Amino acid sequence: MRVIVTGGAGFIGSALVRHLVLGKGYEVLNIDALTYAGNLASLTAVEGQGGYSFLHADICDRPAMDRAFAAFRPDRVMHLAAESHVDRSITGAAAFIQTNVIGTFTLLEAARGYWQALDPAEQAAFRFLHVSTDEVYGSLGAEGLFAETTPYDPSSPYSASKASSDHLAKAWQRTYGLPVVVSNCSNNYGPFHFPEKLIPLTILNALAGQPLPVYGSGENVRDWLFVEDHARALDLIAARGTPGETYNVGGRNERRNIDVVRKICAVLDRQVPGAAPRADLIEFVTDRPGHDARYAIDASRLENELGWRAEEDFDSGIEKTVRWFIDNEWWWGPLRERYDGRRLGLAAPAAQ
Ligand code: NAD
Ligand code: TYD
Repeated sequence: MRVIVTGGAGFIGSALVRHLVLGKGYEVLNIDALTYAGNLASLTAVEGQGGYSFLHADICDRPAMDRAFAAFRPDRVMHLAAESHVDRSITGAAAFIQTNVIGTFTLLEAARGYWQALDPAEQAAFRFLHVSTDEVYGSLGAEGLFAETTPYDPSSPYSASKASSDHLAKAWQRTYGLPVVVSNCSNNYGPFHFPEKLIPLTILNALAGQPLPVYGSGENVRDWLFVEDHARALDLIAARGTPGETYNVGGRNERRNIDVVRKICAVLDRQVPGAAPRADLIEFVTDRPGHDARYAIDASRLENELGWRAEEDFDSGIEKTVRWFIDNEWWWGPLRERYDGRRLGLAAPAAQ
């Protein structure tokens, strides 16, 4: 099995590459532009493995994508390269439109050019998995779950750009017959998570005795999935998903933000006792503009049709994650020097 993974130096992409190379023995070409979020240190476990190779390239670069397809001849593409942080999209949306919309379009066209020249059996077996987010569905009230049929209603520049890319991916399947499958997953957490997102930021600020910023009242709910469960789901969806269909991925682990932060404090206080309870560091700060109230995924299609189950619940996954950050300062130390955890995403004046 020969798989192109885009964004394989990012948080979820690196977990996927480790799973495919070490767990499945696949040949993987990782295509990544190494933005601020891309980090080859997340891939030391696969470096030097015969089946793994890396191409430093931008998915918006059509000639580079064409060359990669022609030289590597993939059986599958798993497309994760994206700008992924909501707060950054509020501060500056241009990179999100460029990579998530134009980049996905460029990759779909390169894949189509390659796929059209395959023989019919290879064409039928080829898959393009477009990896997306539950944020395209917008915000839930107190009740209900996102299903694959939930209408799109994105709130942030990030989720709007991902919604655009999902529509492009579906259209390339319907119009051109390219065998595209789409997955929409809830919030991930785990090792190698860039420390701008809630969980790694809270762990590292708490370890450093710095304030723990909770937006608004902390009542917003996210549905948390351990990243390695997501990587297994993506492999399964690419292998067995039906072209033209969507599969929602989520671990049925809804938590209020304030409860996530308090839980991390409690785990840290137990694993690395400090002078004072870490929960004393919690600070309620100005809310995020357009902040979605609640996300929650109904993953029954993936569970019933493809037999996937999340292996970690939130309690077991957060214990592992906190332990990993305590033990792996070599990975996050240099990132904290480059990104100091300052607040992003308070709406700025429009760019001229
Ligand atoms: P991430 O920000 O950690 O990594 C993104 C990777 O893409 C980085 O390695 C970056 O260098 C690369 N990249 C960015 N622009 C590129 C370009 N133009 N060309 C090539 N590479 C480029 O993101 P993540 O959290 O690992 O998310 C991966 C995918 O999963 C994204 O598509 C995201 O929308 C989706 N997703 C994320 C979550 C989550 O909780 N993080 C949940 C559901 C879906
Ligand atoms: P985040 O990790 O940015 O993921 P997403 O916005 O994609 O859900 O944020 C998760 C939740 O935590 C979200 O409701 C915003 C909130 N949040 C905070 O309260 N404080 C923070 O410092 C950050 C980064 C996020």
